Amino acid sequence: MAAGKGTRLKSRHPKVLHEIGGKALLEHVIAAATRVVRPEDVYCIIGHEADRVRRATEHTGVQYVVQPEQRGTGDAVARARKALTGYDHVLVLSGDVPLIRPETIARVRDFHIANRSDMTILTTEPPDATGYGRVLRKPGANDEVQAIVEQKAATPEQLQVREINSGIYAFRTQPLFEHIRRIKTDNPAREYYLTDMAGILGAAGKRVLALSTDRPTEVLGANRRAELAELDAAMRRHKCEELMDAGVTIYRPETCVIDAEVEIAPDTVIEPFVQLLGRTKIGGDCRVRSYSVIRDSKIGDKVEVRVGCVIQEAQVQQGALLGPYCHLRPGSEIGEGAHVGNFVETKKARLGRGAKANHLTYLGDAVIGEGTNIGAGTITCNYDGVHKHLTTIGKGAFVGSDATLVAPIKIGDGSYIGAGSCITENVPANALALGRSRQVVKKGWAKKRSG
Ligand code: UD1
Ligand code: CA
Repeated sequence: MAAGKGTRLKSRHPKVLHEIGGKALLEHVIAAATRVVRPEDVYCIIGHEADRVRRATEHTGVQYVVQPEQRGTGDAVARARKALTGYDHVLVLSGDVPLIRPETIARVRDFHIANRSDMTILTTEPPDATGYGRVLRKPGANDEVQAIVEQKAATPEQLQVREINSGIYAFRTQPLFEHIRRIKTDNPAREYYLTDMAGILGAAGKRVLALSTDRPTEVLGANRRAELAELDAAMRRHKCEELMDAGVTIYRPETCVIDAEVEIAPDTVIEPFVQLLGRTKIGGDCRVRSYSVIRDSKIGDKVEVRVGCVIQEAQVQQGALLGPYCHLRPGSEIGEGAHVGNFVETKKARLGRGAKANHLTYLGDAVIGEGTNIGAGTITCNYDGVHKHLTTIGKGAFVGSDATLVAPIKIGDGSYIGAGSCITENVPANALALGRSRQVVKKGWAKKRSG
C-alpha cells in the first residue's frame, strides 16, 4: 500500500518517496518484499502522485495497481482484487513501514500457512503505542484476534492495550475479497479501514490470528517527520553495525551518515562525522577522516581521505592521498598513489599514477600524466564562455606554481612550465616554457622617490 498522501508529513512530495538511509521508504519495502517473492508478484498500490511513485520504483520490476482516490487502506486493498486473482494468499505490506526484514515477512507467511489462518496480523508492543491500531485478542483464545481498533476510534480503555497492528498482514485471498465490501466508513476519519477485516472475518467464522514480534523498531511507521528521523537513525545504526561486524572500524558511529547501499572493505577506518552516500564503494585499509562527504564514488584500497574532503562521482585508485579539503567533482579519476591536496578542485580530470596537485588548484577537463607535478595555484582555463576545452599534460612534467593553462592546450612529457606563466600555445616534450613578462629591477628607485 503506497497510495496515501502522507498528510502528517506536511510535504509536497508523496510520503513513500521520503527517504531514510538515502533510499525512498517504498524502495526499502520493495527490497524486503522481493527477497521473499518474485518482483512480478509484488503489486504496489499507488494513487497520490502515482506517476512519480511509479517512476521512482520502476527499476525494481514490480507491478502496479492504481487506487484513484485515497479512501483508506481497505479501499486500497480492494483495488487489487483483479490483480490478485489466481493467488491463494496475499501478504499486505505498508509502504511507510520500511525497516521490515525479509525474514519477518517470511515468518508471517509461514505462520499463516501452517496455522491455516484466514487473516494473520503482525503485531508488536512498542514503548509508545500512540497513533497505531490496537489489537484486541479474543479472551482465553491463543493467538486469536477479535478486532483491531484505530487510535481515533478507540475507547480510553482500549487505548490502554499495548499490542499494536504493524500494518503487515497475510490473508487468504478468497475470504478477503468475499468480505472486503463489508468494510464501512462509520469511523471518525470516514475512511475504509483494512483493519476492520479482523472483526468482519472473525464474525464470519474465519480464523484471524496475531503473530507478534519482539522487535518493535522493525515495524515502526513513518507518519511524522520526527518518526522519519528516528527510522533514519535506526537504519543507519544498523548499517554501521553491519559494517563493523564485517571488519570496518567506525569511531563514533552515531555521528556518521552511511547510506544503505554503501560498501566498505575490512580494516578501513571511518572517523567521526563522515558521510558516505549513494552507491559509494571504499576499499580496505583506507582511512576516511572527519567531515568528509563522499557520494557515488569508488575508492580503492589504502587511500587516505584527509579532513574535510568532498568527493562526488569520482574514482580513486589505491594508495592515493586526498585532502585535507579537496573537492573531487564528477568524472575525476585519481590514479594510484596520486596526491590531491589542500583546496584543490578537480572535474573530469584524470591524474596519472603518482601525479601530484597539492595546493590551491583547479583542474577541469584535464588529463595529467604519470608522475607529473602540478604546482600550487595552477589553473586550467577550460571554459571560454561557450565551450569546455581539454588540457593534456604528459608524463613526468613539472608545472610551476601559479601557471595558467589556457585550453585547448597540450604540454609534452617531461616539460617544465615556469612559475607564474600564462600558457596559450602547445609545449613539446622536454621543453621549458615561460609565459610571463621579464622582471625589471630599478636600483635605488625607492630612495630617489623619497629624496
Ligand atoms: C495503519 C493501520 C494501523 C496500524 C498502522 C501501522 C489502518 C486503518 N490502520 O495506520 O492500524 O497500526 O498502519 O503502521 O490501516 N494507503 C493507501 N491508500 C489509502 C490510505 C493509505 O495506499 O487510501 C497506504 C499509505 O500510503 C501507507 C499505508 O497505506 O503506506 C498505511 O496508511 P496510513 O494512513 O499511514 O495508516 P496509519 O494511520 O499509519
Ligand atoms: Ca502509517
